[in-house]
Amino acid sequence: MYTKEIEITLAQTAKDLLQRLEQQKLLNNADETMEALRRVIAYNDWRYYVQSDPVLSDYEYDQLFAWLKKLEAENPHLVSADSPTQRVAKGLTKEFPTVQHLVPMLSLENSYNADDLIDWDRKAREAAGLPEIEYCIEPKFDGASISLIYENDMLTRGATRGDGVAGEDITTNIRQIRSIPLSAGFSKYGIHQIEIRGEVLINKNTFKAFNEKRIAENQPPLANPRNAASGSLRMVDPNEVAKRGLEAFLYHMSYHTMERGKEEPDAIKTHSGTLDLLSTLGFRSPAKEKKVVKGVQAVIDYCLWFEQERDNLPYEIDGMVIKVNDYALQDKLGMTTHHPRWAIAYKFKARQATSKLRTVEFQVGRTGSITPVAKIDPVHIGGVTVSSISLFNEEVIREKDLKLGDTVLVERAGDVIPYIVKSVADLRNGAEKDIVFPTHCPVCKDKLFKPEGESVWRCININCEAQVVERMIHFVSKDAMDIKSFGESNVRKFYSLGLMHDIPGIYQLDFDKIGELEGFGKKSLSNLQSAIAQSKTQPLHRLIFGLGIRYVGETTAKTLANAVSNIMDLQHFSEEQILALEDIGPKVAGSIKQFFSNKDNIHMLQQLAALGVNMENTKSSAAASGGLSGQTFLFTGTLAKLKRSDAEEMVEQQGGKILSGVSSKLNYLIVGEDAGSKLEKAKKINTIRILTEDEFLEMVKGDNNG
Ligand code: IVH
Repeated sequence: MYTKEIEITLAQTAKDLLQRLEQQKLLNNADETMEALRRVIAYNDWRYYVQSDPVLSDYEYDQLFAWLKKLEAENPHLVSADSPTQRVAKGLTKEFPTVQHLVPMLSLENSYNADDLIDWDRKAREAAGLPEIEYCIEPKFDGASISLIYENDMLTRGATRGDGVAGEDITTNIRQIRSIPLSAGFSKYGIHQIEIRGEVLINKNTFKAFNEKRIAENQPPLANPRNAASGSLRMVDPNEVAKRGLEAFLYHMSYHTMERGKEEPDAIKTHSGTLDLLSTLGFRSPAKEKKVVKGVQAVIDYCLWFEQERDNLPYEIDGMVIKVNDYALQDKLGMTTHHPRWAIAYKFKARQATSKLRTVEFQVGRTGSITPVAKIDPVHIGGVTVSSISLFNEEVIREKDLKLGDTVLVERAGDVIPYIVKSVADLRNGAEKDIVFPTHCPVCKDKLFKPEGESVWRCININCEAQVVERMIHFVSKDAMDIKSFGESNVRKFYSLGLMHDIPGIYQLDFDKIGELEGFGKKSLSNLQSAIAQSKTQPLHRLIFGLGIRYVGETTAKTLANAVSNIMDLQHFSEEQILALEDIGPKVAGSIKQFFSNKDNIHMLQQLAALGVNMENTKSSAAASGGLSGQTFLFTGTLAKLKRSDAEEMVEQQGGKILSGVSSKLNYLIVGEDAGSKLEKAKKINTIRILTEDEFLEMVKGDNNG
């Protein structure tokens, strides 16, 4: 529970501890020091994971954490169950035993429009015998429901919903979610035992990054954040759970007992009071998102307003929940066999629809991967028309038991790409046909291969036309060489007209001929010409990424660019040398080595060099401006080369300023290993430049010189 005074005290304690750490000086004794460390770390966890505004730098946090671990190792009898070190779990979970909920977890009745709500409100008013009811409205989180038990302030159990009566004991995994406090001061309110409910979520950005990684590794992406959250909660390795970046909102008190002789505090006489209390006790609850209103019209207004905000939220919600605010009135209204009468869900417009699966096309990617793409009768979902849906690989077709002619359920959640949830087998009439996966490349007709342990079929003919074209499309794309106004359609057009046949051809186009094509006026021709010319000076990492080397994403491309002074240096790197670079594993290293060992690829690079494309690792442009004065910086994650404090000093010596959190005031975020929420937050503010440690070093070196 953090009042302003306590926050100030804790911030001071944090400073004091950091100073003492340098002098290796305890407070009065180890016991007291450990208690202070636990409190400061838990406080920073709350600031970081609940408030998104940490008070300690990651480096300071790590130092205090390490100190606590050291003291605990020296004083094992003083380790408490709610110590932040105790989140870290050892070993795999063998099973998730079934456990009974203290109170069955009911589901909510659904409503879909204003009339449904008006109806529900009328019934509630009649049952209550009141002219008007006070409601609390909050988002309906679209994740996996959980229930937590705290006893004597300690988190003693975390469970899944299960069938509502009994769920699975997932306490170890729940402890990996850093926004869930391991202990909370319920006893200050006289509460002895409490069961609280909530929802575990994966935020949209974390989910997107997670799926991008899966796709890069040729694994089918997970369908939506909800599935990702519920899947994550049941993983057997708690350390993997910790890496998923799960978040939790707690929104319901289902059961509680008071300490003997204690009166129930006013704070928990209403639902809105409970949300505030949970928030005060360090939980993430919809305390800020909630709204308390009187009468049904205000309910409708808030639901409609929030629906518009839906896509601006960092997490998925699928509706709103309206609850009678006063607990005494909730009790009076009671429940039916399925639902409480005092609450209702207002569901937003569906992002699901059914359609017919007509055909499956097999597309060849730039690395030769064969992707089945379902063509369905166009359907409208959430404001867009969907007619084409990637099925990723053969296994997905089999798992979902898809057949041509099937009625399929299609979902498109928020920014998530549309996907087929399932086929509706009940609606089959016998005319459906099996989907036959090709044995040969649909474009070059070469035989397809599926390497051991992989789920994707491939055409391994690197001269396959489809691959050649896809590679060019990738090369000119925004994240690669960013040749504006080129685009996929021009690549296809120029290729099919024989105006270019490979990547170097992009720089040898005959503009006279293009000028004769329909749709190319003087202006568009000169735009294209200058965009192509400009791309020759793109930084090296864009060229490397643009080459489309298998498994080499933007980050790896940057790592490679930073490791050389000219791209040709990579020819001479051994696989071991590549492996030694940051975050590059054997699979990636093997692919890079293979690319630069191939004579055709080297020849292509020589051609590009001769055509004037930049092959050098040039200094970052910020370096040229000289001096960091007026610029703000923040470091996150573990730096490989510099000590955090040295890096910060370098910034300050050159007139720059270190900020403590990510905000629109920040100019540069320097990202080390295992960067977490700060990076996520920074990505959302497009004025922040995100640099690697090497890029930062380049930049300050440049400033020293200039
Ligand atoms: S209240 C007895 N509040 O929706 C009422 N539920 O069908 C307990 N949910 O299983 C639930 N956001 O998983 C409540 N703000 C919210 C919610 C919420 C999501 C889920 C929950 C529940 C389902 C109800």
